[in-house]
Amino acid sequence: MRLVLLGGPGAGKGTQARLIAARLGIPHVATGELLRAAGRADTGIGRQLRGYLDKGALVPDETVVELTRERLKEPDAGRGFVLDGFPRTLAQAEQLDLMLEQQEVQLDYSVVVQVPEDELVKRLSGRRTCRQCGAMYHVGFRPPRVAGVCDVCGGELYLRSDDTEQTVRRRLELYREQATPLLDYYRRQGVLLAVDGLGSAEIVEQRIALALAGNHQSRPDRDRRARMA
Ligand code: AP5
Ligand code: MG
Repeated sequence: MRLVLLGGPGAGKGTQARLIAARLGIPHVATGELLRAAGRADTGIGRQLRGYLDKGALVPDETVVELTRERLKEPDAGRGFVLDGFPRTLAQAEQLDLMLEQQEVQLDYSVVVQVPEDELVKRLSGRRTCRQCGAMYHVGFRPPRVAGVCDVCGGELYLRSDDTEQTVRRRLELYREQATPLLDYYRRQGVLLAVDGLGSAEIVEQRIALALAGNHQSRPDRDRRARMA
C-alpha cells in the first residue's frame, strides 16, 4: 500500500502514520522528521534548515523532493509506505507521481485527516515528543506515565521549536494556502479519502482503516471511473 497522509499541523498525521505503518508492516516516512534530523547537523545546510523549521516556513521544494526521493529508493519502501508531511505543494505532488512512475508503481490513496483549527492549536501547544524514539504525547489527551519521560524507551520528552504560538499561526496560514490545490489534485485523480480527525487516536485509526477497506477498488478501475465521470 502506498499512502499519503494530509492534514493541517497537529491533525495527527504523525500519530496515525505510525499506527498505519505498524499495522501494514510498511515504513513511515515523515519529511518533517527527516528535515529535523538533518537540521541538527552543525553545518551550513543544518543551519539553513533550522532557519526554515523554526520559523514554520516551507523548505524549498527541490530539497524536500530530493530527500524523499532518496528515502523512497531504500529497499523497505519497495513494499509500500505511508508518507507524512509530503507532498505539501502541488509541485511536490507532481514530483511524487513522477518518482512513482519511474518505479512503475502508483499511489493508492491520499488520506486527509480533517480537524478544526482551534483543536489543532490545542493539540500543538500540549504536544511532547520523545528525543530518542520520536513517540508522541500530549500533556492533556495522551500524557506519559511519568511527566517528561517516554513510556516506550525512557527518553526525554521535548517541546518542538516550531510549536510556539506565533510559529503555529504561520504553519496554519501556510496549510490554508497549500491545501486546496493539493486536495483538488488528488480528488481529480480519484484517490482522495477524507476522514474526520476528531475523537481519540484509536477512533481516528479505525475510521482510516474503514475508509481504506471500503475503497478496495483497484487504481486502474478508479482511473477509468474518473475518466468517465
Ligand atoms: P511536520 O513535522 O510535518 O509538521 P506539521 O505538518 O506541521 O505537522 P505536525 O507534525 O505538527 O502534526 P501532525 O499532524 O503530525 O500531528 P501529531 O500526530 O504530532 O513539518 C514541520 C516543518 O518541516 C514544516 O513546518 C516545514 O518547515 C518542514 N517541512 C516538512 N515537510 C515539508 C515539505 N514537504 N515541504 C516543505 N517543508 C516541509 O499530533 C499532534 C498532537 O496531537 C500530539 O501531541 C498528539 O499526541 C495529539 N493527537 C494526535 N491525535 C490526536 C487525537 N485524535 N486526539 C487528541 N490528540 C491527538
Ligand atoms: Mg508530524
